[in-house]
Amino acid sequence: MKNDCLKIIIRGMKKNDVPQVSLIEEEAFGNHRWHEDAFYSELNNELSKYLVATLEDGSIVGFIGCWLIFEEAHIATFAISKKYQKKQIAQALMCSFIDICYKEEIKYITLEVRESNENAISLYEKFGMTSVSIRKKYYQDNNENALVMFSENIFYNKFKTIYNDIKKNIKKIEIIYE
Ligand SMILES: CC(C)(COP(=O)(O)OP(=O)(O)OC[C@H]1O[C@@H](n2cnc3c(N)ncnc32)[C@H](O)[C@@H]1OP(=O)(O)O)[C@@H](O)C(=O)NCCC(=O)NCCS
Repeated sequence: MKNDCLKIIIRGMKKNDVPQVSLIEEEAFGNHRWHEDAFYSELNNELSKYLVATLEDGSIVGFIGCWLIFEEAHIATFAISKKYQKKQIAQALMCSFIDICYKEEIKYITLEVRESNENAISLYEKFGMTSVSIRKKYYQDNNENALVMFSENIFYNKFKTIYNDIKKNIKKIEIIYE
């Protein structure tokens, strides 16, 4: 059965991935997107960790980018190409990113999300993250508020149980780590 699954490769982002990643960013965030230069400088930032999810032919279908600062990981940008959404690719990228957090002894995951972005909020809530405050008019394009979301301490059993259950239930795709 597993052989019929879509195979997804997860690996670190490289400089020559940036043009493809930018296209997914544009599709996801329109005018409020990051430009290619921002990604190139992020790849030179020693606090940044960027992962991509690709198909077997190498085409990129999603990515996640975060900053690791002391005991916190801040998700800076995250998107899955529209055609490949709802296939558990975001959950797989989150799990890989959490594995990095464990290795780096990061305790908490945090992020800002538009308060209208129900899909992303639902994804983060699935990982047990909760909204702890609101940044008023955080998004300059439409003055939308941002929810600030935080995880539990990821070393606590409560978080580990959620994380292990999510990992176990990723069945729509087969993940290959590089
Ligand atoms: C949010 C996003 C990354 C989710 O990617 P995805 O690969 O489709 O997500 P998954 O298939 O792994 O789904 C994980 C969970 O996310 C939530 N979710 C994702 N898409 C959803 C949808 N269309 N409707 C409702 N919930 C949704 C659900 O909780 C889902 O769990 P479930 O399938 O058990 O209901 C994707 O929709 C996206 O790229 N959106 C545009 C960019 C964006 O908003 N980025 C986040 C910025 S903070």
